[in-house]
Amino acid sequence: MQPFVHETVLAQAAITALDICPSGTYVDCTLGGAGHSARIAAQLGSTGMLIGIDQDAHALAHARTVLAPYAKQTRITLVHDNFRHIAHVLADCGVQEADGVLFDLGVSSPQLDDRERGFSYWDDAPLDMRMDRTQPTTAAHIVNTASLDALTRILRDFGEEQCARRIAARIVHARASTPIERAGQLVRIVKEAIPAAQRRTGGHPARRTFQALRIAVNDELAALSEALDAAVHALRPAGRIVAIAFHSLEDRICKKSFQNHVQRCNCPPRAPQCVCGMPGQLCAPLPKKIVPDAHEIARNARARSATLRYAIKANGATRTI
Ligand SMILES: C[S@@+](CC[C@H](N)C(=O)[O-])C[C@H]1O[C@@H](n2cnc3c(N)ncnc32)[C@H](O)[C@@H]1O
Repeated sequence: MQPFVHETVLAQAAITALDICPSGTYVDCTLGGAGHSARIAAQLGSTGMLIGIDQDAHALAHARTVLAPYAKQTRITLVHDNFRHIAHVLADCGVQEADGVLFDLGVSSPQLDDRERGFSYWDDAPLDMRMDRTQPTTAAHIVNTASLDALTRILRDFGEEQCARRIAARIVHARASTPIERAGQLVRIVKEAIPAAQRRTGGHPARRTFQALRIAVNDELAALSEALDAAVHALRPAGRIVAIAFHSLEDRICKKSFQNHVQRCNCPPRAPQCVCGMPGQLCAPLPKKIVPDAHEIARNARARSATLRYAIKANGATRTI
């Protein structure tokens, strides 16, 4: 097994936003290298509980080792699952309400760095990109079977790729003679499809295509929307939800989801009490987003695009203005 080296992003900001209570129950939906989880576990006492979820078996195995020392002081349960199933995970653990739920989205550095996993456009690896390797759909499957329209939509909607149609058409053309099985093949096709002037701007020309395929393979955005709703629902009053996003699509979903949960109440704005029966689940106003400082970005380039948002569960009975 490869060593697992992942520098945790916005570590202290996430822990501060969670406002950890030693006897509370916390769910780390994106366990990864357990960087956040270890910091949570360090603050929990014997009546506290940490539940860690990851869909990547390699991450789980590593996290188990990192968290072993904390298992003497608090209860820790690690679960191999997609965080979209958070409600089931909590039910299986006998937990009715959580004090805090954390999402640190996207892939970990070891996933990107492991050549065999095909997440990176720098390595000529098999086009896999599955975070959960028990799932059947790989990036190669999508690239070789999706229709021209479907590929265009994936590249446009999940990669915000301006040349989506051109790249999709070039893929369809290329695969007619040879299946596209490796990252290097796809990088060459993308480079051929993008006009020379555009190739010179916006970083690596295949960056958006690889992001789009990764999101499609792992159904990342739908899983995130479902999980955020379920997590908000699972919080106890005054419980906290914290989400760290690494690109605008993820961040938009977090922002919208939090806003939707504060906006359900349609009582008059100045009403002291909710009478509509649909009080906002999250307290308003939502706290401002937090981004890494220059010092963290200098230390860890991956932090550059990170945005942390958090929200506090309202006490359903009263209105928070
Ligand atoms: C950025 S890493 C987390 C790093 C971790 N916070 C740390 O500091 O070590 C994201 C992790 O979330 C996992 N992940 C992403 N989407 C997931 C999903 N829908 N369900 C479960 N795990 C997911 C990935 O497999 C990866 O290990």
